[in-house]
Amino acid sequence: MEINKVGVLGCGLMGSGIAQTAAAAGCTVVVREVTEELCERGFSGIEKSLAKFAEKGSITPEQRDEIRGRITGTTGFEDLADCDIIIEAIVENLEAKRDTYNQLDAICKPETIFASNTSSLSITEMMTATRPERQARFVGLHFFNPVPLMKLVEVVRTILTDDAVYESAVEFAGKLGKVPVRAGDKSGFIVNRLLVPYLLDSIRALEEGVGSIVDIDNGMKLGCGHPMGPLTLLDFVGLDTTYYIAEIMFDEFREKRFAPPPLLKRMVKAGLYGRKSGRGFYDYADPKKPTPMSLV
Ligand code: 3HC
Repeated sequence: MEINKVGVLGCGLMGSGIAQTAAAAGCTVVVREVTEELCERGFSGIEKSLAKFAEKGSITPEQRDEIRGRITGTTGFEDLADCDIIIEAIVENLEAKRDTYNQLDAICKPETIFASNTSSLSITEMMTATRPERQARFVGLHFFNPVPLMKLVEVVRTILTDDAVYESAVEFAGKLGKVPVRAGDKSGFIVNRLLVPYLLDSIRALEEGVGSIVDIDNGMKLGCGHPMGPLTLLDFVGLDTTYYIAEIMFDEFREKRFAPPPLLKRMVKAGLYGRKSGRGFYDYADPKKPTPMSLV
């Protein structure tokens, strides 16, 4: 099944990146947000990112405008009815996702594939919010931040996913210029299964006084060739997001390595979410020169 018209739910960091990437691959994209303001905010992020690609010469100014022109916004579900695939990137809340899928199931054409960008929630539990006919058309498509740059997509299947639907989703990830990896519906899939304990351990190392924020980051950046140290990456992903993911994974596996350390919880409660709130392990008052916070 060829995928040409893409619906995206949510125009935050991930949704806007997914919309941009699908439009850059030649798809027609409809993005649904709760309010027009949220749509506009997401679109301005897309425009900034496209401007960066155009400045670097990776796309021409004409291509920049064409890509932008393929994306429209809406606040209603009806505009997604004839999409070939719908990729959901809303808040990591199972009930909110189930409610959305339930409404869309009644509106969308029978062939529409339903995909979720969840990083840790169960695709199976989302799938059961739809009718049996739709359940075989459910997959996970987990993208990475920043979506326009990161090459990976985890393509997740449940025990009910139809083989042909799954292969269409794998093919679609390739059409977007991404490298698909195949993963089963287990919380965290492949990447977060390995990444989350590592990120949480970096916070534990800080709490235990093993090293300073800058030294822990430099250790992994310069010692292991990672593009960002773990504490910088936590600020980039969002401490609130990581906290919720860790809670979901701890709930699923009941293993200590997924338990959020007390410092992470305290920081989230204090509103230190990382880059998006201006402070996390670093203070981003000058975004070009983040300075480490005094936390322990
Ligand atoms: N759109 C277009 N261009 C962008 C961009 C965007 N959104 N973001 C950055 N760029 C460009 C910059 O303009 C810059 O261009 P230049 O080389 O011409 O100056 C180039 O990308 C590199 O950016 P920076 O100089 O700002 O910084 P870096 O060299 O460090 O690269 C990075 C940025 C690609 C984000 C790199 O640091 C990186 O790969 N970091 C790790 C990211 C990562 O691990 N992501 C996964 C997070 S986990 C996740 O998402 C899963 C979830 O479930 C938790």
